[in-house]
Amino acid sequence: MSSGPTRGVASPTKRRRAVSCARALQDRLAACMASDGSLGGCRSQGDGAVCRCPAVMFDDRAKHHKVNELSNDFNRALWCVARGLLDSSSRERLVVDFFMAKGHSSHVLAHGLTASVARRWRLGGFEMDAGLSQAAAESLGRFGGASVVKSCERWPQSGVVVVNGKAPTRHTEADCLRRLCGNGADLVVLDPDFQILMQEEFFLLEDLCRPAMYAVNNINLAAHGGWIKEYLVTVGWLELAAGSSPDFNSFLNAAQGKGNALALSLRSWSLLLRPEHACRL
Ligand SMILES: C[S@@+](CC[C@H](N)C(=O)[O-])C[C@H]1O[C@@H](n2cnc3c(N)ncnc32)[C@H](O)[C@@H]1O
Repeated sequence: MSSGPTRGVASPTKRRRAVSCARALQDRLAACMASDGSLGGCRSQGDGAVCRCPAVMFDDRAKHHKVNELSNDFNRALWCVARGLLDSSSRERLVVDFFMAKGHSSHVLAHGLTASVARRWRLGGFEMDAGLSQAAAESLGRFGGASVVKSCERWPQSGVVVVNGKAPTRHTEADCLRRLCGNGADLVVLDPDFQILMQEEFFLLEDLCRPAMYAVNNINLAAHGGWIKEYLVTVGWLELAAGSSPDFNSFLNAAQGKGNALALSLRSWSLLLRPEHACRL
């Protein structure tokens, strides 16, 4: 049963307070994103070479891959939220990277969580491609272990979890998501593919995970998840940060029928905060 949309902060006084707390968080986030230490401290590898950041997974195609670009603000925002903007209480922190692929965004998140003051954290998500799930677990294993699970009956007690399967759209198929979210998530990252609209998945996440924040990528592109940002703002969520990152694969993506190359050359993102959490972080 869906709990439905909630404005969360009902009275004007509470709303003003939430907005003021959110402004302070915005300042902290902007300072972190601009700092030399963001993404673990990025260093040029020599004349003309690509700049490498410890938080960013590096591979042979790094120069051409959007998520490895130093200019990628989405990575900086994810790292900074994981590093310092989540709940500072002693409870376990939970981040869901809903579509993990090979684990680029998860790598950034895990690196940020490791650099944070949190003693305990968990990270997990879904990936329907078996090869990508395995690759994600291999690269994320360095953060204290990572497992690929196909069924949630044997749920790992620690480490990163990659659920190899389709993300659930209904309560009846959501056992893994229920286990993953437990008492609620701090952050859910939504980085969908072309034509993955997440209409059912999003409301299931709201019911089972109720995250304090969503980071939504590709909000400027047709047939992606931009509606989620608009929906959340409409029901009173606060936008903490937004930006665009270049995608140097746009011609390839266009050739694969994912849209127009010019439109695909920039990917916009938004970081949204549940208003009733604004003064708790
Ligand atoms: C844009 S990629 C995610 C990239 C990831 N954030 C990263 O930085 O590496 C989207 C991934 O979602 C997977 N995917 C798409 N629909 C899915 C679904 N319904 N359930 C599980 N995985 C899905 C695709 O296989 C693809 O690898």
